Amino acid sequence: MNNRDIHAAWKYHDGTKHSPWSIRNHPHFLDWANRPLPFKIYPQIEPLPLPRNVPQTGVAALSAISESAPSSPAESLPDLHDLARILYFSAGITKQRVHPGGEIYFRAAACTGALYEIELYVVTGDLKGLDAGVYHFNPADVSLQLLRKGNFRGNLAQATAMEPALAHAPATIICTGTYWRNAWKYQARTYRHFGWDAGTLLANLLAISAASGLPAEIVLGFVDVEVNHLLDLDTRREVSLCLVPIGRTSGRTSKSSLPAPKAVPALGLETIALSPRQVEYPEMLEMHDASSLACEEEVARWRGMSPVFPSSAPAAEAVPLRQLPEHETPKDTIEQVILRRGSTRTFDPTASITLAQLSTIFDCATRGIPADFLQPPGAELNDLYLIVHSVQGLKPGAYFFRRDENTLELLKEGKFRAQACHLGLEQQLPADASVDIFFLADLTRILERYGNRGYRAVQMEAGAIGGRIYLAAYAQHLGATGLTFFDDDVIDFFSPHAKDKSAIFLLAIGKPLKRKPQQSL
Ligand SMILES: Cc1cc2nc3c(=O)[nH]c(=O)nc-3n(C[C@H](O)[C@H](O)[C@H](O)COP(=O)(O)O)c2cc1C
Repeated sequence: MNNRDIHAAWKYHDGTKHSPWSIRNHPHFLDWANRPLPFKIYPQIEPLPLPRNVPQTGVAALSAISESAPSSPAESLPDLHDLARILYFSAGITKQRVHPGGEIYFRAAACTGALYEIELYVVTGDLKGLDAGVYHFNPADVSLQLLRKGNFRGNLAQATAMEPALAHAPATIICTGTYWRNAWKYQARTYRHFGWDAGTLLANLLAISAASGLPAEIVLGFVDVEVNHLLDLDTRREVSLCLVPIGRTSGRTSKSSLPAPKAVPALGLETIALSPRQVEYPEMLEMHDASSLACEEEVARWRGMSPVFPSSAPAAEAVPLRQLPEHETPKDTIEQVILRRGSTRTFDPTASITLAQLSTIFDCATRGIPADFLQPPGAELNDLYLIVHSVQGLKPGAYFFRRDENTLELLKEGKFRAQACHLGLEQQLPADASVDIFFLADLTRILERYGNRGYRAVQMEAGAIGGRIYLAAYAQHLGATGLTFFDDDVIDFFSPHAKDKSAIFLLAIGKPLKRKPQQSL
């Protein structure tokens, strides 16, 4: 399969759309006895415990999540404490609840169905407190498992065709996706969820790295087979999705320290089976294969300028976004906000948020995600459309966010709570929220530019912006939740403006309903 044959991405996207018809005609029942294990466990590898009480950064969440380009050009080397902080606040367990189907271990970032199919690995040279190696992170006991001893940074640099941030990074975190852990519930739609759930995790990862004073960015251009071999993945079950270089060695050091790529023999490491039985969804394996990059020349050609999107005619009525004045900006630290975050389960339909709060969220979340596929820095693939129900300072209605002007353009005025409920798969959450944010993208142009790999890019970018929105909302003591949607109905609702775009992601923001204290009889 070939990345340029974009028929594959269209086939997957069209084949996994939700519609009222598809939901009615393809009901799916959860087999609780076959529920997958939420952790990857290597029973024969001695865990290396990570330090638990690492020093907090003390950096305000709203400033940590606003970082759009990696900072600090000088040398910045993570140590074991930094790595422990980054891994824990990206993928660590933050809450635990008993559920009829068993215990649920909730993690630092939101994830569809709380199924946590994204695994993290670290490829590092010698760091203070950690020897060079390829490691897997296990959130269950906050530990690393050494898969390969030695410095394999040269292998990763080669796989990315010497992507500069990665070639200079003392350590790189790799996100993988495990199909079955999410497909148990979501079947073939899991490939979309790989992007969403890796994205929300990446929002945390980028924010906590920035707060730790370490540059980090998302690298999506790499030779898949080389990275999968390095991690010894069984690619029918788990695949590498993106790399995140952390920190920077100085130019002088990196030349002498980047080792030549080493041979990576198969390890055949035993892992505990996720379920008694696993179901394979061939459409996802095909989609992944078709979006894989085969050699360094292809990676080098793939990286580069973002597509240029035609701009729409300005609407008659546009409202400028005005964020909170500095003295009113909440200063809770990024760690406090990540620990507090959790998807809102019921919004208060009688409550409203202010335009300043919404503006602050947009300001933090839309400055651009640092990624090798977004050039120049600040470019974006997703467009944001809103249904406003109750935002003080905005008429209820449908809006388009014009990023270059930082305005919300009114597309149609009206009360659309019932429509929002329908678009969000007939759930009450989008109807009761104060505002729903829909991510729509011009897939035709994106796939033309990036091939099938553009499908990974647009889903992951949406997840990362969505993850930033979650954090920016919780930093202001508001609530948020990701949601799923009826694809074509979303486009119809925002058309003609959204004609020819595709629905990618949905998130609702509002005030959580405070449960009344139980009255004693
Ligand atoms: C992309 C995305 C889509 C989601 N879709 C829904 C949804 O349709 N309905 C819902 O009730 N929750 C949805 N959620 C919320 C998840 O169920 C929630 O993140 C998960 O249970 C973990 O809980 P936490 O976010 O409180 O940590 C979604 C979350 C994400 C990230």
